[in-house]
Amino acid sequence: MNYKSVLVISDLHIPYHHPDAFEFLKALKKKYKPDLVVNIGDEIDQHAISFHNHHPDLKSPGDELREARKYVKELEQIFPEMTLVHSNHSSLIYRRAVAHGLSLEYLKTYNEFLQVGPGWKWVDDLKVTLSDGNACFFTHGMSADVMKVAQQYGMNTVQGHYHSKFKVEYYSNPDKLVWGMQTGCLINQKELAFEYAKNFKSRFIIGCGMIIEGQPKLMPMVLKDGGRWTKKIV
Ligand SMILES: [Fe+2]
Repeated sequence: MNYKSVLVISDLHIPYHHPDAFEFLKALKKKYKPDLVVNIGDEIDQHAISFHNHHPDLKSPGDELREARKYVKELEQIFPEMTLVHSNHSSLIYRRAVAHGLSLEYLKTYNEFLQVGPGWKWVDDLKVTLSDGNACFFTHGMSADVMKVAQQYGMNTVQGHYHSKFKVEYYSNPDKLVWGMQTGCLINQKELAFEYAKNFKSRFIIGCGMIIEGQPKLMPMVLKDGGRWTKKIV
């Protein structure tokens, strides 16, 4: 299938996502009617089992997972079908197991531990054909410069992971025009889970990406004073 309207969701970090993120995504779904929804990773945070320090004022691993499941269910109701790309946060359970010498055969799948149906499918990376006939590659975050990935793979590329990067760039050669897009994130930066970034000069950029008839479009979630969404799609 050649996709005409693709919604790209990145870095929700549930349960530490922005309080208006789901409403924003619902509004985009209504306006652009995506025929493909790709989540390019860090859909859940798993702060409590991170390899970094666990903040003492945040939830236990069990509490964090149970809370995450409630929001994941809500997201599944909005998007019953979604392709999700593996990422550093979401895969923590598997990374932890390997680090401690456990066979992955002991573990549940993403669908099982998040309690979502078969409409959500996890893949390592994703390549699809867009409605203009060109290929597009989706990955969580392979290089700080998305154009390096686009040039290496020789196709349009979408990345998340870099929460403060929100941009589209192009390159062309005599044969084709290729673009790369960084989609920001949908995090609530006020959460303690992101305390590491408190003193960074550059702030996280809240938004996501779309691909309409083969061309990338950034969808910023514009915030008012106080950090809530203006409720306008711009
Ligand atoms: Fe992330």
